[in-house]
Amino acid sequence: MRITSAIALMALALLAGCSDDRHDERLRQAGPRPSLAALLKVADVGLGERKFGRCAGCHKNNPNAPDFGGPNLYGIYGRPMGQSSPTFGYTAALRNAGGKWDAATLDAWIDNPRAVVPGTSMQFAGVPDPLDRADIIAYLKSRSPTAETATPRPAKAR
Ligand code: HEC
Repeated sequence: MRITSAIALMALALLAGCSDDRHDERLRQAGPRPSLAALLKVADVGLGERKFGRCAGCHKNNPNAPDFGGPNLYGIYGRPMGQSSPTFGYTAALRNAGGKWDAATLDAWIDNPRAVVPGTSMQFAGVPDPLDRADIIAYLKSRSPTAETATPRPAKAR
């Protein structure tokens, strides 16, 4: 009886220790002191979708979804900063930032928005774990169908 419960406890401890996102295993695969590119190779879109939960209080991520506390992020990867949503009231700081959303800028932004664009209104403490950020970036990219393809976006109806 005691042995059985001890084994059960050990199994539980093991389960709790290896979190279901295979974080440490993926980090090992990425190699020592992994670059963002190395992290993106082991990043997981499905896990990123789950981790997008931290953003979902303010952001939708669907075609034609409305802005929320923040702009709809569908298609954001590859776009210029502060220009995507025709309806969102961006800060002048972000509107005039001049950069583009790629893996590097998104990584820095998700870590600490104010370090990328001082004066932004995105009130967010940041995601400190680099692999969590890579998962979220992989997800954002997967929700940006025009980012990797040569297919032009349909012309806007006038
Ligand atoms: C508390 C609300 C809030 C949370 C949580 C939040 N954001 Fe934002 N986000 C905003 C606001 C507000 C803006 C617009 C900032 C501005 O205009 O300066 C913004 C802007 C952005 C932009 C720029 C969009 C563009 O069109 O240029 C990106 C990318 C972004 N957020 C990603 C994220 C991601 C990824 C997360 C989660 C890891 C997140 N945000 C969490 C409020 C939030």
